[in-house]
Amino acid sequence: MRITVLGSAGGGGFPQWNCNCPNCAGVRAGTVRAKPRTQSSIFVRPDHGEDGVLFNASPDILEQIRGSPVLQPARALRDTAIAGVVLIDGQVDHATGLFMLRERASPLPLWCTDSVAEDLSQGNPVLRVLSHYCGVARHPIALDGNAFEVPGVPDLSFRAMPLTGKAAPYSPHREQQVAGDNIGLTLFDRRSGKSLFYAPGLGAITPPVFEAMATADAVMVDGTFWTDDEMVRLGVSGKRAREIGHLPQSGEGGMIEWLTRLPAATRRMLIHINNTNPILDEDSDEHALLRRAGIEPCEDGMTIQL
Ligand code: MLT
Ligand code: MN
Ligand code: ZN
Repeated sequence: MRITVLGSAGGGGFPQWNCNCPNCAGVRAGTVRAKPRTQSSIFVRPDHGEDGVLFNASPDILEQIRGSPVLQPARALRDTAIAGVVLIDGQVDHATGLFMLRERASPLPLWCTDSVAEDLSQGNPVLRVLSHYCGVARHPIALDGNAFEVPGVPDLSFRAMPLTGKAAPYSPHREQQVAGDNIGLTLFDRRSGKSLFYAPGLGAITPPVFEAMATADAVMVDGTFWTDDEMVRLGVSGKRAREIGHLPQSGEGGMIEWLTRLPAATRRMLIHINNTNPILDEDSDEHALLRRAGIEPCEDGMTIQL
């Protein structure tokens, strides 16, 4: 399979429009060596064939499509390589881009869990809004361990698992998580035999989650925050990482520790990186530490062959 990172930043992107934290101000001024990033999304297609699956529809989707020719193969007057969209949660940074796909001539094929579909019909009713445009052909993502496929995308199958995380602030279960509010996905290519574990929002690593990570050839996981109190310390927010469903990278029980325990051959990548995270600064000690641990921070436009 061929994976294109469309957006590697967390909610708000990098730099964030209203933020003057050291990273955002520094990248704007050119005094910090860092790459701007759009919001969290990947596009995955098989080795043979142009059509693929969009994982998460970010508010930056139009810019991402313009910047990635593989998404516009131009085979007809109106065309797209997006055969279907899969959502891992119902948050603004992953679902708002659905509004931008409304000009389709046929209903948008969409895979999400029941709890995400509910939030996207009530709290942020994008699915109801789209019914006045192209409409949505929604397929439930089951959490029973069975894989699903996206018609028109041969060779690939996808298996979801529930994760510890947070539903969006407009969800009635923001504070009482329901299974399916946040999922991780194993993307499997039966032709190459390779797999990716993809979880841009991951609040805790339970034994089944670690098992899924350890059996994949590559992992692309939550890179939101370096420390639990990152936003508090910078004074940009009162929210702590774990409180909003993100396992920080550093410290005891942090993401780096878990990634270090994976088999030596596993490729380790971080995605959904918040603009406050010091790993974005390529001259920072935190960036160097990450690289020494063999962990790659994803960048927009990066491609991965598995
Ligand atoms: C999150 O992942 O915690 C959210 O996407 C943050 C946000 O965009 O408000
Ligand atoms: Mn998010
Ligand atoms: Zn910032």
